[in-house]
Amino acid sequence: MTSTRGESLRAALTDMLRHQQGNHGWAVLHEGLAGVAAADGPTALDALLAEVWLKRPYITDAHAITLLGIAVQHHTLHDGGPSEVFDAKTPLPVRVRLLAGLLAERRAELTRLMAEHSNSYTGARRFLVPQLVIGAFAQARGIERVRLMDLGTSIGLLPRQLNVEPVFDRFAPDLHWHPAAPPFRRIPLEYVCGVDRPPLPTLEWVRACHGPSDYYERRFGEVLWSLDQAKTAGRYDVPLRPLDLLDVRALADALTSARINVATCTFVLYQYAEDVRRRVIDTVLGALDRPGLLLVMDPSHGLARMGCSVHAYVDGSTEALHVADVSDAHCMGDVTVRPGMGVLAG
Ligand SMILES: C[S@@+](CC[C@H](N)C(=O)[O-])C[C@H]1O[C@@H](n2cnc3c(N)ncnc32)[C@H](O)[C@@H]1O
Repeated sequence: MTSTRGESLRAALTDMLRHQQGNHGWAVLHEGLAGVAAADGPTALDALLAEVWLKRPYITDAHAITLLGIAVQHHTLHDGGPSEVFDAKTPLPVRVRLLAGLLAERRAELTRLMAEHSNSYTGARRFLVPQLVIGAFAQARGIERVRLMDLGTSIGLLPRQLNVEPVFDRFAPDLHWHPAAPPFRRIPLEYVCGVDRPPLPTLEWVRACHGPSDYYERRFGEVLWSLDQAKTAGRYDVPLRPLDLLDVRALADALTSARINVATCTFVLYQYAEDVRRRVIDTVLGALDRPGLLLVMDPSHGLARMGCSVHAYVDGSTEALHVADVSDAHCMGDVTVRPGMGVLAG
């Protein structure tokens, strides 16, 4: 890779190889990609990325690398591509050769997947924090009807899990709150829905967003189990709509027409530049019914470390209340409650 953008992507690849979560599955593929990217002359990787950058000029390097891994895995799972590219026991030079061949032969298909889809990884334990925070907020404000929209919902897991107690009871013990967890309270949900970028992510795509490892197999098993529990609890039929959050007029319309007073947005906005992120947040704040709450969860250190932070915006105020920090974005580990929680549930 010789271009400036190629150099920047190579640096991002090196950073991601050091990421703690990489050990759970993607590191082997990223190592192979670094091998392909290290070639002197132009490679199939250069050609593929040039097309992706043309179609998605603002994609970050980290997202492009993640998406390429997902596209390769999707192809491997569905069309029988070379699974050795994910196998640490296969010598690195062999993996690099296989990957370079795959990128050359399947460039059109991989480019299409990367142009049309996003990383739609969804975690079965992420709803634990919104469940308790929104429950505490509704209780403190005496809110009798919550109308909730999950923004960037992927397959709509979070909206289906809220208030489903068997799911909460299974996962909550693995998340330790400091100094203490707010009590579980049923959220008085009158209406709940989710939106995501068109085309709406499928379960197959979300499967490919999980890294190739036992760790991610278990996480995906938790997703499937949660969906089953939602069916049993009669909470499966949640409206999911295609909507691009960057189309702020459509976003405002969707929120006002459904009289939404609580919005959640987990692991979505960190992908965008600060001004874009701000525009989406301001639009939501201007469109929520009062008393309104927007809850945002994002990785705390870009994608460099494992934790995430939770911020809330209340009653249209643009002041971000720092509610909590979670040690692991998959919501296993520790939650440290921050002063914003007191304001919210005060
Ligand atoms: C990493 S997933 C997180 C899914 C889910 N919120 C969770 O935390 O488990 C990010 C999701 O945001 C969606 N997304 C990203 N940009 C979007 C946009 N402009 N409009 C709507 N959805 C978007 C992606 O399609 C993807 O499904």
